Amino acid sequence: MSFATAFIGGTGVYDPDILDDARLETVDTPYGEAVVNLGRFNGRNVVFLARHGAGHSVPPHRVNYRANMAALKKLGVQSVLATAAVGSLNPSMQPGDFVAVDQFIDLTKSRPQTYFEGGDEGVVHTDMTDPYCPRIRELLGRAGGSLKLVVHAGGTYVCTEGPRFETPAEVRMIQHVGGDLVGMTGVPEVVLARELDLCYSTVAMVTNFAAGISPTRLSHQEVLDVMAQNAGNIQRLAMQVIDWLGADRACPCRGDGTAPRL
Ligand code: HPA
Repeated sequence: MSFATAFIGGTGVYDPDILDDARLETVDTPYGEAVVNLGRFNGRNVVFLARHGAGHSVPPHRVNYRANMAALKKLGVQSVLATAAVGSLNPSMQPGDFVAVDQFIDLTKSRPQTYFEGGDEGVVHTDMTDPYCPRIRELLGRAGGSLKLVVHAGGTYVCTEGPRFETPAEVRMIQHVGGDLVGMTGVPEVVLARELDLCYSTVAMVTNFAAGISPTRLSHQEVLDVMAQNAGNIQRLAMQVIDWLGADRACPCRGDGTAPRL
C-alpha cells in the first residue's frame, strides 16, 4: 500500500485520531527507526508522524530527522505538510496567526543536516531557492480563506538549536538578519525533504512574541497552552490542504534525480 501524503505534527499536534483506522507502525531506515501512524483521510492514505514522539518526549535537538524523513520516503510519500510552533518577531504576525513559511535561516549547531555524506551517495549540493513547496503554500492560503483563519503568505523562519528559548540579544540579531519567526525544529527537516525531492511545506503557528518583545518571560507551558487553544484550527487547516492536494506536483520540488536511494 502506498502513502502519497504525510502530516508531521509538531508541538501541540499529536492526535492520530485525525485519521480513520490509524495504526501505529515502526519503519526501519538506514538512519534508525521512525514511528508513524498509517491511516485514511477522506478516502486517501495518509501518514501522520508526531515529530516529538509519544507524549512530546524527544526535544528538538534530538529528533531523528533523517530517520523520520527517510521513513516517509520509504512509504512512498510525495507531499508533506508539517506544523511548527513559533515565536514571532514581526508585529503583524500575532499569537494565534498562521504563516505559510517561504524561507529559512539555519542557526542550529549540532544536528546531522544531510543524507549526502560522501561515499556511495557522493557529494551533492542541493538547491534551496524554493525550500518550501509553492503549491502547498498556495493551498494553505486558500484553506485559510475558506476557514476564515489568518494565514500569512510568507515569512522567514529562523531555526535555533534550543531547547532553551533565545536571549533578547539573539532576538535583536535575528530581526537584523530578516527573521520573522523563530522555532527549533524546522531545520534540518526542510533540508532533508528537499534532498529527497519531496514537496514539503510548513504551516507555522505563532504562540508568542519572541523573548524581549513579549511583555512577559517565556515558558514552554505558554506555548503548549496557545497550541491547545488552536489545535482544532491547525488540524482543520492542515486537513483541508491535504484534502485538496492532488498528485500533479506542478512545482519545482521534483528535483534533478540526485535524491539518495534509501
Ligand atoms: N522561540 C523558539 N521556539 C519557539 C518559540 C520561541 O519563542 N515559541 C514557540 N517555539
